[in-house]
Amino acid sequence: MSALQYLPHTRIKTLKLASAVAAAKHVASEIDKLIRARNAAGKNTVLGLATGSTPVGLYRELIRLHKEEGLDFSRVVTFNLDEYYPMPRESQHSYFRWMHETLFNHINVKWDNIHIPDGTLKPNEVDAACAAYEEKIQAAGGIDIQILGIGRTGHIAFNEPGSPQNSRTRLVTLDSITRRDAADGFFGEKNVPHHAITMGVATILEARRIYMMAFGEHKAGIVYKAVEQPPTEAVSASFLQERKEAVVVLDEAAASELTAIKLPWEVGPCAWTPELVRKAVVALSLTVKKGLQKLNDDDFRDHHLYELLREKGPAEQIGEAVFHDRMATIKPYPAGRVDQPTPPAPLPEGRGEKETARAENTSNTSLPSSPFPSGRGAGGVGSAPKTILVFSPHPDDDVISMGGTIIRLVEQGHKVYIAYMTSGNVAVFDHDARRFVDFIDEFLQAFGNPAEQSSAGTIKERVYAFLDAKKPTEPDTPEVRKVKSVIRATEARAGALVCGIPPEQCEFMDLRFYHTGTKTKKPIHEKDIEDIVDLLKRLNPAQVYVAGELSDPHGTHRICAEAIFTAVRQVRPAGFDPDVWLYKGAWEEWEPHEIEMAVPLSPEVLEKKKQAIFRHQSQKDRAMFPGGTDRREFWQRAEARNLATARTYDALGLPEYFALEAFVKWKDG
Ligand code: F6R
Repeated sequence: MSALQYLPHTRIKTLKLASAVAAAKHVASEIDKLIRARNAAGKNTVLGLATGSTPVGLYRELIRLHKEEGLDFSRVVTFNLDEYYPMPRESQHSYFRWMHETLFNHINVKWDNIHIPDGTLKPNEVDAACAAYEEKIQAAGGIDIQILGIGRTGHIAFNEPGSPQNSRTRLVTLDSITRRDAADGFFGEKNVPHHAITMGVATILEARRIYMMAFGEHKAGIVYKAVEQPPTEAVSASFLQERKEAVVVLDEAAASELTAIKLPWEVGPCAWTPELVRKAVVALSLTVKKGLQKLNDDDFRDHHLYELLREKGPAEQIGEAVFHDRMATIKPYPAGRVDQPTPPAPLPEGRGEKETARAENTSNTSLPSSPFPSGRGAGGVGSAPKTILVFSPHPDDDVISMGGTIIRLVEQGHKVYIAYMTSGNVAVFDHDARRFVDFIDEFLQAFGNPAEQSSAGTIKERVYAFLDAKKPTEPDTPEVRKVKSVIRATEARAGALVCGIPPEQCEFMDLRFYHTGTKTKKPIHEKDIEDIVDLLKRLNPAQVYVAGELSDPHGTHRICAEAIFTAVRQVRPAGFDPDVWLYKGAWEEWEPHEIEMAVPLSPEVLEKKKQAIFRHQSQKDRAMFPGGTDRREFWQRAEARNLATARTYDALGLPEYFALEAFVKWKDG
């Protein structure tokens, strides 16, 4: 880890690591070193611990260090940052329970050494308990290493905007953004407690070392404020600037708004790789609001790009090169042109046929008479139809994120399969489950089906009885989950059909990692990977489309993407080697300089895509898990993003399209 360097231009020491896993391993190794040194000296180690999605990887690594490398926690004393109030310990939402399930039950920490603010106190006991919590930290010798996450309000622990720098452990009211962010876990904002007991800013700042971790695009904006803007009560994490020993540990996505990453040419000399040139020149063009081919030397000089101008200039030459590079991304024929649609070729037995398919697939995708043929885009017309496999983590990601491209691929004569990776049942409202079993009941009464009757009543009676007694956040029974899965599967088939895909080309994988009935997912299962491998071998697609969106609120997209990558690596040696394209759209969109394939959508195609999204009725009007604070429906987000990408291309001086769907090619490693 000695090679790690802090990013320049930050007010807190900041590390950017390749992934959240690498970041967790880094912090875990620092904790490991300290605990081992203290144990050897016969002394205690005092850790300040956080909950939430951020530290999960860190806790997994600490458990691994304990189990596989003998890290001994018997002399570790822990203090947690916070707890909801009021909150029974046994509740599935208590931080008490979460900490035990996520960490404490798997290591040899002594129960007496664990301290967590008490959510079960009576109101008149809270103040004294908070003062006692501070005293216990002092009595333990103070916190050696404090772990923090950052909320989108900029909070550390639950020190919401307005928390003074000298605040101590106390009862606080949660910000509406924080409650909205927590809503998914509580199955609705109305179930999220309004209050919490939290350590104060001053309590946290007294720790001898502090690691604040943040992962994902959704944290990038607030990380920028905390790390690069002056300290303010409006962002309590910014007070970490007061502590030399504080280190912010980020993955690439969470670091993306920092100046050193976003505008590296503003903070020092750069190695002008083609990617960086593209990023800088696209940003310049959008900032000065001039097309790429209208940029002049002064535009470069006025925006910290003299070095680039000297190395690669003049401006005209740089602008033209980036223009051609961006032009080559426009692919009205994403899998190549098929002049006379014919039935797709039979599945290949050996490698020979596959290679022919590959050569055809990677050619002929560009504009019909592109003056800028790229290496893969300059083929003749008339290639064979391809088999295309679109992986959809949830049952509606396919149409939300790339419905237009699917419609185009089908219209262009390719055979498109959709693999729905999970059932998505956790996102179906109870009222829909009721409506559908009601429908089944009516149906059965009208048409009769004695097999449906059982001693426990009809399906409708059983489902209604469970839902009548269901507590707000209780997971569903397997039977109710099944009903909800069926609802989503029928919607997915209806949505696919709008795009021209028949039911027999819809694969319902129902991967095991999703079988929890709650927001928290299990790690990927070996058999899940096997299922993906089998599918890849059975269909032998020329192109595979994968959700590359890493800010999915529940991690399902990330797990699905990693599983597909693992499977692709496994099938490659056997000659199966699809081109893998990454799409986004439900929560984020690719940046204009990142895009490697932009598929134009006409108004008619976009309209059809919206119709396909509307078929996901259970997610319409108000989705159970909209993710973050975006109140728009998914079709509105998709439409806005596709229109915005077209506007950006237009602003860069590229052809003006109505809408564009954007993709990036997966590069292994
Ligand atoms: C949790 C805590 C909070 C979280 C923050 C980020 O104990 O005190 O400050 O660290 O809300 O939450 P996640 O990690 O879920 O994004």
